[in-house]
Amino acid sequence: MRLLIINIKELLQIRDITIIKVSGKKMKELPTIKNAFLLLENDIIIDYGNMNDCPDVTKENTIDATGRLVLPTWCDSHTHIVYAGNREQEFVDRINGLSYEEIANRGGGILNSAEKLQNTTEDELYKQSLERVQNVVKLGTGAIEIKSGYGLTVESELKMLRVIKRLKENTAIKIKATFLGAHAIPKAFKGNTNGYIDLIINDMLPIIAKENLAEYIDVFCEKGYFSLENTERIMAVGKKHGLIPKIHVNQFNTFGGVELAVRYGALSVDHLEELSESDVVALKESDTIPVALPSCSYFLSIPYTPARKLIDAGLPLALATDYNPGSTPSGNMNFVISTACIKMKMTPEETINAATINGAYAMGISENYGSITKGKKANIIITKEVPSYNYLPYAFGENHIDKVIINGKLVV
Ligand code: NIG
Ligand code: FE
Repeated sequence: MRLLIINIKELLQIRDITIIKVSGKKMKELPTIKNAFLLLENDIIIDYGNMNDCPDVTKENTIDATGRLVLPTWCDSHTHIVYAGNREQEFVDRINGLSYEEIANRGGGILNSAEKLQNTTEDELYKQSLERVQNVVKLGTGAIEIKSGYGLTVESELKMLRVIKRLKENTAIKIKATFLGAHAIPKAFKGNTNGYIDLIINDMLPIIAKENLAEYIDVFCEKGYFSLENTERIMAVGKKHGLIPKIHVNQFNTFGGVELAVRYGALSVDHLEELSESDVVALKESDTIPVALPSCSYFLSIPYTPARKLIDAGLPLALATDYNPGSTPSGNMNFVISTACIKMKMTPEETINAATINGAYAMGISENYGSITKGKKANIIITKEVPSYNYLPYAFGENHIDKVIINGKLVV
């Protein structure tokens, strides 16, 4: 089936296939065509250009996009969208003065979500997660990375990864799976971190590799969670099983996690609310992309990732939601780009690059997603009538999306 979108006010993020990410000053460039058409065939982008060169509209299925912008769907490279229940009581506890750390120390936080998930059936977990995925697709997300990490037992980590596998099979968007067994030390292993890492290495990883349940491996490298030594041990064995590292690092403290992740060839280092000069140096000599999660900073009232420091050093930057029940109960990429403009002093062009092509790079899919390129997947956002693309992050909190197309089909 073919679908022709005509009279597009401005078609955004037009790229040659050879671009897999954009870095430094280039992030300020967003190639566009005004008064454009876009032609999709089945699930692929096959042509685009100025309306003067538009194919014969009488022969095609058409959508008239007068006054509207068209752009590739968001690529959300960091989520924990598979979880059971919510943690709104902890939200209220924080308002009343407890810190995120204090809540975690008294057995709340990740351990609270783990207990809920352990007591939830795979079918129920799938149902709750599917609903969240469907909701973020309506907000323009066309590719998403999903982590395990709320299971923390062999059985429940596998349950999460099997739910991710079912989501891959039953939804049209692109999904990448990450094994985050090392998200927290479960109650049963309190004071015995190495014992839990043994369980990850000996009992979880071999099954995950054998059943092909994950592409990436993650560790929450942070004081009170997993040390540099712990992180290195897990990444090393994960890599032996063919899993590429994508690491939670520098959320609260910087102590060498970035350099370590880079040394292990991590695809991305995520969070970086704290950042040292040596982190920047390590990233400059690598293909590892930093990923910022501004909704998490917003929700927890912690510092924002210093985007200017990273971009002005010539580095690429991706933006993602971190959708999870504890630090970011929102999967809205539109809010992410707004917040990145408002709080991180990124330009609208930089945020759109960070949320499309660079997000795709951060989940290893930028050859097929993240830009308007002939041959790439037909995952498209059509906005409502708006004055310009600057208006998208500017008028925050409002839904500017009119239609979402996934694999060439309109999402209804
Ligand atoms: O990325 N930082 C670690 N993990 C999640 C939050 C986990 C939770 O509070 O449930 C994050 O922010
Ligand atoms: Fe996270």
